[in-house]
Amino acid sequence: MSDPPLAYLNGEFLPRDEASVPITDRGLLFGDSVYEVVPAYGGIPFRVTHHLERLDRSLAAIGMQNPLAHDAWRSVFERLTEQLPGEDQSIYLQVTRGVHPIRSHVIPETITPTVLAFTAAQPPRDPQAASRGLKVITLEDIRWHRCDIKATTLLANVLARAQASKEGADEAILIRDGAAVEGSASNLFIVSNGLLITPPNSKELLPGITRDLVLELAAQAGIPLAQAQIGVAELEAADEIWLTSSTREVSAVVQLNDQPVGDGTPGERWRQMDHLFQAYKEQLRRGVDRHGP
Ligand SMILES: Cc1ncc(COP(=O)(O)O)c(C=O)c1O
Repeated sequence: MSDPPLAYLNGEFLPRDEASVPITDRGLLFGDSVYEVVPAYGGIPFRVTHHLERLDRSLAAIGMQNPLAHDAWRSVFERLTEQLPGEDQSIYLQVTRGVHPIRSHVIPETITPTVLAFTAAQPPRDPQAASRGLKVITLEDIRWHRCDIKATTLLANVLARAQASKEGADEAILIRDGAAVEGSASNLFIVSNGLLITPPNSKELLPGITRDLVLELAAQAGIPLAQAQIGVAELEAADEIWLTSSTREVSAVVQLNDQPVGDGTPGERWRQMDHLFQAYKEQLRRGVDRHGP
């Protein structure tokens, strides 16, 4: 599986190796930019409207408008994904404030955004790996207070993930003011006495598209659920812990800070949710609901 040759940059499709931005791009100099990651199952982008609406919100939060209409984005995704027909992929897009010759914190009054996107093959889900589960550690959340914006300023997230890797873990759950907020690149769910709990959306966490789907699927399946703060003690005592994201889907955590979660294997509720999630994906792959939510 080699990566597709063409990327999108500012209205053009060009060989990925030739797609470059000037060193004076504010995305590079200040992290003045936002992004999205859209999974494409069997080449069909997943929950595109949700991703594009979140992009609109991220852009609005930093005082920008979406430089492309949603239909134009959909056409970009189509052109990119058709390079790997029928394959699972991960589409990355980024909108930066743009290029300006003078490096200054002040946002220039006139500036043209830099818009880029590319797709990459995503290895097919490995059910055995999913059933092994993840090891995670907890770390203090040292990020800013606008984690609801999907900004590319991800240094704190990158360092948290590096610390997790150093300790032989797959992900870090971030703790702020005694509460577990989310992972460095994932949302958090726990199952406690039969109740599925996830922290409510706020400026402290990313409103995950996978999180929303899990909430929808749980509601449809009649699984009792609550959106509530998760204290550290509650996290440690949880029967199950899950992490969700566009690339991790719904992953079970089997070890937290070297202690087993539940009996140290993925729990029953996770099996049920993973099944519902995979069924939803399959429906999309078969073209049902292709233009749906
Ligand atoms: C900090 C953070 N939280 C949550 C998520 C999950 O979001 P989504 O389900 O939309 O991929 C991500 C995804 O990258 C993330 O970076």
